[in-house]
Amino acid sequence: MYLFSLAGCGRISRNHIEALTELEREGRAKLVACCDPVAERADAVAQKTGCARFSSIEAMLKSEPSDVLSICTPSGLHPAHVEIAAQYRRHALSEKPAGTSLDSVDRAIAACDARGTGYFVVKQNRFNKAILLLRRALEAGRFGQIYHLASNVYWTRPQEYYDQARWRGTWEFDGGCLSNQAAHHVDMMQWMGGAVESVHAFGATLARRIEAEDTIVVNLKYRNGALGSINVTTLTYPKNLEGGITILGERGTVRIGGVALNRIEHWNFETPHPMDDEVENSSTDPSSVYGFGHLPLYRHIIDALDGKIEAMLTGREGRKSVEIIQSAYKSIKYKKTY
Ligand SMILES: NC(=O)c1ccc[n+]([C@@H]2O[C@H](COP(=O)([O-])OP(=O)(O)OC[C@H]3O[C@@H](n4cnc5c(N)ncnc54)[C@H](O)[C@@H]3O)[C@@H](O)[C@H]2O)c1
Repeated sequence: MYLFSLAGCGRISRNHIEALTELEREGRAKLVACCDPVAERADAVAQKTGCARFSSIEAMLKSEPSDVLSICTPSGLHPAHVEIAAQYRRHALSEKPAGTSLDSVDRAIAACDARGTGYFVVKQNRFNKAILLLRRALEAGRFGQIYHLASNVYWTRPQEYYDQARWRGTWEFDGGCLSNQAAHHVDMMQWMGGAVESVHAFGATLARRIEAEDTIVVNLKYRNGALGSINVTTLTYPKNLEGGITILGERGTVRIGGVALNRIEHWNFETPHPMDDEVENSSTDPSSVYGFGHLPLYRHIIDALDGKIEAMLTGREGRKSVEIIQSAYKSIKYKKTY
């Protein structure tokens, strides 16, 4: 049984608590402590779950015997909080994105390496049925050569969303729509397309009162020769329109859409395969863009800590998306390709 503590009791913490509640029923994990500088938020979680509550991570880790720290704090704080976890010899599960600068993520990776602690990053959409089937098709070589990948994230975030918390839309703690809303899509583009050789982007803050971009277009060139494009905005009128990925290969075309990369919209390969029978049952219908993935993600991490599987979503894997996102931001700033 792994003991978890939780840093940050805001919106996404609910998905972590739900996953941990289910895992407690299964006898595999338990939430023992939570912390948030906003006392009412920590109180609410403590009341709901029966865990201990604190106002800081350090105070919590000093007195609670957890094995893993789940980090649900603002994005720019994730790497420093991973470092604190390592310092107290706890494994760290960081929400996405791994951070808002490559240097800070590198320091967090080094801290975990030095202490021998685990570093995992939340990419829950990788566990969606539709995405897992696509990944199997890719690994089976069904696409042949991949020519093009595209991801459009046409979502709606009104000004009130950004006004909910001061960290939203700031360069230091959040980044813009690419770093926040499209973090999962950037991850999919590199997980499916492979290593990225160069990145070019244009970004703009067209309508929201925030520091970072509310609209961005990013072009990718992959090492394998394929080209990619990511288009993101939080200005879609009047509600979320799409958030998917399309892969065009020599012998296959697939499009996964839905609100959270959860629905197979197109599946066409030159050569039939038994996995094609699974297409019909591989679409799910989550009520929110957060999807259903936190529970399978927690199971994956516990299996990795048990030594049953190799961890897929490590700090180094999370770094890959941060590198693409930060290269896009550098490209906008310096008008160059990186
Ligand atoms: N996986 C997903 O699909 C998904 C979805 C939404 C948000 N997120 C990520 O989760 C993170 C949090 O987002 P949110 O929407 O829950 O934000 P939020 O503002 O609702 O919650 C963040 C919480 O962290 C607390 N906090 C700030 N500094 C802290 C510290 N030093 N120690 C402990 N707590 C601290 C804040 O008081 C707040 O309660 C972000 O990085 C975001 O990108 C991921």
